[in-house]
Amino acid sequence: MFKSNCTIGIVGGGAMGAGIAQVAAIAGHTVFVYDVCEATLQKAVAGWQNSLNKLAEKNKLSKQHAIEILNRLLIKNNLADLSESQLIIEAVVEDIQVKQTLFTQLEKVVAPDCVLASNTSSLSIASIASACNNPQRVLGIHFFNPAILMPLVEIIPGIATDENCWQACRTLINSWGKTTVITKDTPGFIVNRIARSYYGESIRIYEEGIADFATIDWALKTFGGFKMGPFELMDFIGNDVNYKVTETVWQQFFYEPRFKPSLTQKRLYEAHFFGRKSGRGYYNYQDNAAMPLPNKNETLGKEICNRVLCMLINEAIDAYYLKLATKEDLEIAMEKGVNYPKGLLMWADEIGLPHVLHTLQSLYNDYGEDRYRPSILLKRMVAANQNFYEKSFWHKK
Ligand SMILES: NC(=O)c1ccc[n+]([C@@H]2O[C@H](COP(=O)([O-])OP(=O)(O)OC[C@H]3O[C@@H](n4cnc5c(N)ncnc54)[C@H](O)[C@@H]3O)[C@@H](O)[C@H]2O)c1
Repeated sequence: MFKSNCTIGIVGGGAMGAGIAQVAAIAGHTVFVYDVCEATLQKAVAGWQNSLNKLAEKNKLSKQHAIEILNRLLIKNNLADLSESQLIIEAVVEDIQVKQTLFTQLEKVVAPDCVLASNTSSLSIASIASACNNPQRVLGIHFFNPAILMPLVEIIPGIATDENCWQACRTLINSWGKTTVITKDTPGFIVNRIARSYYGESIRIYEEGIADFATIDWALKTFGGFKMGPFELMDFIGNDVNYKVTETVWQQFFYEPRFKPSLTQKRLYEAHFFGRKSGRGYYNYQDNAAMPLPNKNETLGKEICNRVLCMLINEAIDAYYLKLATKEDLEIAMEKGVNYPKGLLMWADEIGLPHVLHTLQSLYNDYGEDRYRPSILLKRMVAANQNFYEKSFWHKK
């Protein structure tokens, strides 16, 4: 469907749009980039120059190649200038009305066979596509931040998307060196849905006074092998972004208790304690501020890690039960989208499904809250003495 040298259009030249444009240009495409804000486009150009120069300095590409890539990245001042694109990826603000208006406008300027994709993190593809006369050519292509470094891309067919269209997009994005997974059009798709427990349960542990931020971060890194603790990670992502994703996923799942946001993070968001970028978040990043030390109590650390991990595993099992994606794609998504040390279903096998069920049932009995209810699939698999993988497959990855 797509020629290897086809033209790609990007709408929105902010953090994500600029990154996706660079990925496509490195893959050999001519890329048209449009944004309503001139200053953003200038910033994008400076960012490409800087990034490509660095790659040339590190001998990852020749200077000539860097210049060729830069020459393929073309700033456009009108949406109509994107008319020759065969694929347009939209990365404008996360607002359904803005996106729907944009897609209606795009349909008026592009060819009938141009594919229209959204990089939305949490909005419904069906809803975005409903603004188009031809929703068959609309889908989600969700890159992770920074797009140039993160290998995962979630491909999200909407309810009306033509299969040839999303298959062609998958092939194209794979040819850009990315790893694609296919997911259903449900809130948060794979990664932003399953990863909610990593943040939510950790905040809950803090709110109950069981441990402070530093101790919880230490516990998950030490006993879980996670590269960043949940509070470090939320401060890195930005509490504005992370809080909004949590709130959207919760609301769109009809106020599902498992995704309920916390007042702790809402207050940080309201106070503009966004994390690293604002100098304050869960931690204080201002000059001379001392980082708090964890309480390295092994028993406490293991308990914290187990509680958060079992919540994550339960979410992954439920996603699998509800056919959000294949088992393989669920595992790849968490390993490559958020750098988890291993797939959660494999992890479930390793620590034992009966242990995961027991942990959740204990929490459920203690608290009497729906957020701790075990997935029906977990219960059935334990009753049938099943695992997700053959034992011989464990540790092979
Ligand atoms: N930042 C992330 O970590 C991340 C990760 C994955 C997906 N996303 C999604 O990608 C999209 C963009 O996010 P971002 O972080 O790059 O935002 P951003 O704020 O950095 O950039 C958005 C850009 O869109 C432009 N814009 C707004 N309305 C426009 C319009 N009608 N036409 C053209 N340009 C318009 C703005 O001027 C701005 O430059 C969002 O849907 C977001 O949910 C973000």
